Amino acid sequence: MNSVSIVAATEEYVQKKLSGEGSGHDWWHVLRVCNNARTIAKKENADLFVVDLAALLHDIGDHKFHNGDETVGPRLAREWLEQQQVEEKTIEHVCSIIRDLSFKGAGTSSDMPTLEGKVVQDADRLDAIGAMGIARAFAYGGHKNREMYNPSIKPVLHDSFEAYKSSTAPTINHFYEKLLLLKDRMHTETARQMAAQRHQYMVDFLNQFYAEWNGER
Ligand code: ADP
Ligand code: NI
Repeated sequence: MNSVSIVAATEEYVQKKLSGEGSGHDWWHVLRVCNNARTIAKKENADLFVVDLAALLHDIGDHKFHNGDETVGPRLAREWLEQQQVEEKTIEHVCSIIRDLSFKGAGTSSDMPTLEGKVVQDADRLDAIGAMGIARAFAYGGHKNREMYNPSIKPVLHDSFEAYKSSTAPTINHFYEKLLLLKDRMHTETARQMAAQRHQYMVDFLNQFYAEWNGER
């Protein structure tokens, strides 16, 4: 099979697998990450086949379905890509990106050693900020029964991933604890520019939110 039909088959496979997931790791998230990744990859001259496959498969073994087992994603991706007779060098590259992306131990952010990995991680982080980031944060907060905002609960910076994940703080706090920090964590220049716009959109949103909260506008 050529790379175009492998990508098409992979889209179909992932869409089937992720359909009906309501907590922000649904098929639409994957599709947006894929679109972001393609935009970045073209500008940065990254390998589009590797980027497409890694973006499509990046949430396939999401920790929420598999009790935190981070080896599930790379394993499922490898099984699928072997079935499609993708060459080993590409399989290894794609799976290493998925492995590095899903590694969340000890509050560390793992490095992305290849350009294609950097592109996919930037693409995934872009989908957590801007208008999409705002929508996803409140969808997640609603799903978890969180308050939108509580002026007496101040944001804190968590020193481990576990502490961050177990926080039950209002959704607005998540902006200070994570979303507003993401623009400085982009690897590529293209994503940095996209992130700057999305970041400003969140800052404007927060200003409007507080003004409306206080009945000032
Ligand atoms: P990832 O780290 O793969 O982006 P997460 O599971 O941490 O995935 O988050 C999925 C989505 O839910 C993201 O958009 C994220 O910003 C949002 N989210 C995660 N934790 C919170 C939270 N405590 N409050 C609001 N939104 C959250
Ligand atoms: Ni993702």
